[in-house]
Amino acid sequence: MVPTVEWQDGEVVLIDQRRLPAEQVMIRCRSHAEVAAAIKDMAIRGAPAIGVAAAFGIALGVRNAAGEGPALRAELDGICQELASTRPTAINLFWAIARMRRRFETEQARGGAAVRQALLDEALAMQSEDLAACRRMGDIGAELIPPRARLLTHCNAGALATAGYGTALGVIRSAARQGKVVNVFADETRPHLQGARLTAWELAQDGIATTLIADSMAGHLMARGEVDAVVVGADRIAANGDVANKIGTYTVAVLAHENGLPFYVAAPVSTIDLATPSGDGIPIEERAAAEVTHHGGRRMAPEGVAVRNPAFDVTPHRYVSAIITENGIAREPYTESLARIAALPFNAENAEKATRFEDAEKGK
Ligand code: MRU
Repeated sequence: MVPTVEWQDGEVVLIDQRRLPAEQVMIRCRSHAEVAAAIKDMAIRGAPAIGVAAAFGIALGVRNAAGEGPALRAELDGICQELASTRPTAINLFWAIARMRRRFETEQARGGAAVRQALLDEALAMQSEDLAACRRMGDIGAELIPPRARLLTHCNAGALATAGYGTALGVIRSAARQGKVVNVFADETRPHLQGARLTAWELAQDGIATTLIADSMAGHLMARGEVDAVVVGADRIAANGDVANKIGTYTVAVLAHENGLPFYVAAPVSTIDLATPSGDGIPIEERAAAEVTHHGGRRMAPEGVAVRNPAFDVTPHRYVSAIITENGIAREPYTESLARIAALPFNAENAEKATRFEDAEKGK
C-alpha cells in the first residue's frame, strides 16, 4: 500500500484520496495551511489519519514559523486553531493537537531548534504508534470473527484512514490471514463513496474477496442470512460507548440488531472521548450540499432543492456488541470498561491485562 501520510524532506506528503482508485496522485504540503486544506477537503480522511496529518501539520507550521519564545507560542496557537477548525467530529484531531501542545510545553525551555525537532519526533511517534495500535487491534479483534465469516463494513476504516493496516479493515485483514474470511460486503457509503472507492480498492489489493453493495442493500442481505457480523470504525466514542461514525452506520447497527448479528466497532484508544458522557454531546459535521446533489461532478437533483448532509451519525451503545482497541476489548458496561482501557498505556502486557479485565467483566 502507498503510505497514507508521510514526512519527506520537510514536507507533509499524502495520497489524494479523492482521486482514488482511478489515480494515485501525491499532494506535497509545504505549510500547515495546506495540510489543513487537505483535511478539510478530504484529500486525507479517516479519524486516525486526520490526527497524524494534523500532528505533521503542526510540526511543519512550527518549523516554518519565524518567531521564538512567546512569539513562537503565539504562532503555535494560530497553527493549532487553523487545524482544529477543519473537521469537528473526529476526536483524534483534537487528541493529536493536545498531544503536540503538551510536547511544546515540556520542550520550549530548550530553545527553538530543540522544540522544532521535538515536535517532529512527536508526530513521527504518533504515526508509528497508530500503525502498531492498528496491527494489535486487528489481532485482538480477529479472535471475535467466526470461521468462514461473511462480514459487512461501512465507509473506509482501512490503511487509508490510519497510519496503515486500518481499524475495522485491520480486524478483517488479521481474520483473513487466519483464513476466517469468506467475503466482505463493502457498503458504497453515500455520499462520498469511501466504501466503493477506498475499501473495495484496499481489500482487492490484499486479495480479500469483496462484494460492493449500495447502502440500502445491507438489510436485505442480512435478512437473507448472507452476513455473519458487522465491523466498522469510529470517529469518536463517548464515555458511555455511543459511537459516532460515518453517516449510515446507525442504520447498519439497527439492522444488525434486528437480524441478531454482532456489531463490532474497532478504534484506537485515541478515538475514545471520556470527556463526552454520551453521543448527544458529539458535534456532527454538516458538509456541502453538492456532495448530495451531484454525482461525479454532474448534478442529479433539481436546482434549489433543500439538502441535508450530516457526515456522521451516532450509534447508541446498546447496539454495539463490543469495542475493539489496541488495549483489549470493551463491552457493556462501557462507562467502566472504556475508562479502564483508556487509562492503560499501550503495550502488549497491558493489552493482555485489558483482555483479562474484559474476561472478568464477562464472568460477572
Ligand atoms: O468522512 P470520513 O471519510 O473521514 O469518515 C471516516 C469514517 O467514518 C471512518 O469510519 C472513521 O473515521 C474510522 S477510520 C479508521
